Amino acid sequence: MTEPHPPAERDRTAELVVVANRLPVDRIADGDDEGGWRRSPGGLVTALEPVMRRADGAWVGWPGQPDIEVEPFEFEGTHLVPVALSADEVEKYYEGMSNDTFWPLYHDVIAEPRYRRVWWDAYVRVNRRFAEATAAIAAPGGTVWVQDYQLQLVPQMLRDARPDLTIGYFHHIPFPAYGLYSQLPWRRQVLEGLLGADVIGFQRVADAGNFARAVRRQLRYETKASGITVPNPDGSTRRALARAFPISIDASSYIELARRPDVRARAQEIRESLGNPKKILLGVDRLDYTKGIRHRMKAFGELLEDGRISVEDVTLVQVASPSRERVEAYMQLRDEIELTVGRINGDFDTMDHTAIRYLHQAYPREEMVALFLAADVMLVTALRDGMNLVAKEYVASRIDNRGVLVLSEFAGAADELPSAIRINPHDIDGMKDAIMRAIDMPAAEQGRRMRALRKKVIEADVARWSRSFLDALDDARRQRHGERAQA
Ligand code: G6P
Repeated sequence: MTEPHPPAERDRTAELVVVANRLPVDRIADGDDEGGWRRSPGGLVTALEPVMRRADGAWVGWPGQPDIEVEPFEFEGTHLVPVALSADEVEKYYEGMSNDTFWPLYHDVIAEPRYRRVWWDAYVRVNRRFAEATAAIAAPGGTVWVQDYQLQLVPQMLRDARPDLTIGYFHHIPFPAYGLYSQLPWRRQVLEGLLGADVIGFQRVADAGNFARAVRRQLRYETKASGITVPNPDGSTRRALARAFPISIDASSYIELARRPDVRARAQEIRESLGNPKKILLGVDRLDYTKGIRHRMKAFGELLEDGRISVEDVTLVQVASPSRERVEAYMQLRDEIELTVGRINGDFDTMDHTAIRYLHQAYPREEMVALFLAADVMLVTALRDGMNLVAKEYVASRIDNRGVLVLSEFAGAADELPSAIRINPHDIDGMKDAIMRAIDMPAAEQGRRMRALRKKVIEADVARWSRSFLDALDDARRQRHGERAQA
């Protein structure tokens, strides 16, 4: 195993540093291993780009492949600082601790979390490397914004190294109830790691509540409304803020794509290539056990079996993009889903029509918007989901005010989108009725609901999300300086 070198010491010039497991770029291989970089499609990148430019920003993250050493480089106005991970670290920190322990535990143990001490050791080591790389580039008195569950220890590590910084952390996934959280052998260290931040953001009010409860139960710190009183090593105290900042999408870029004639023509082409069914149902997910893909297929298969729908009239398109393919639970899920698709299609397909068009692939945003425009019903049936941005992408794309969103109450988006048809994905009969209601919904009702949904998504877009989080961090900075001036 080759030990990655520590990141090069750099000038401390970045006023704003974003720290995330992944860099906001993907490597494009060109055969001779040199390759270039392409901006990754996520909304976070788009939202932060203008802020990063203004603030002389830097982004610290992993380039996405093991054992590659890349020097810091400039990309579209942002200074990118790659953090190298060895193959062993990818296995223990990323696949193990992040995605086989935290991910299932935080999603209400839909899959069984595994607690391995060697994974935890790697997690601590890698979090320290991220914290060191950040401490080396952040400007004096600057702001750092740490992203997600892969890096929960970074806030406190950074505070120890650089008490001058204002530190934010945003948790993109759910934070579970204390009864589940308390399974974690390192439950105390993780809470302490997160509380190194001045502002700790969650998707839903319930997540922030679960976090505050864990802090009270485990650390006995006082919490009041969104404020948590955290003791300093010198016996004084400081205040951390823990509250909801529901994330969103760059709605205008979806609207723009939905207006493009080539995208609209593609939507028509998709409908035709499916044999022009009366209704197209659509699921778009990372292939993940939290998404309720099996439950959705069970409901759809039963509707065919019951004769309430037929393959001539209704097709389900399921895009399941490959994800975390070396983690056992994901391999198992893929097998189960592919078996189910094969069975349903085998039982119901005709020469001309298919029940489920299953695509284990990822597509560019243009193709996704074309699919959204082609789909009469969007099925979001997550068993647990921090937010679910696909629900918002579908809504933003429907500039025609048509289409129906069926949305699980266990997705964070349900808090903001009450005009969707709400479902409990564990209740298969209820889900079947909801799907039928969506299929049969008159155009006028579709329009009413879709207009309300669109209003919400367009108002609360990702630019507003990042602004409100950074404003809260600014307040925290002012408060700290005020406190210092008084002391
Ligand atoms: C979720 C997480 C992100 C993660 C993404 C893709 O949305 O909240 O932190 O980046 O899934 O997963 P991956 O493991 O491929 O980064």
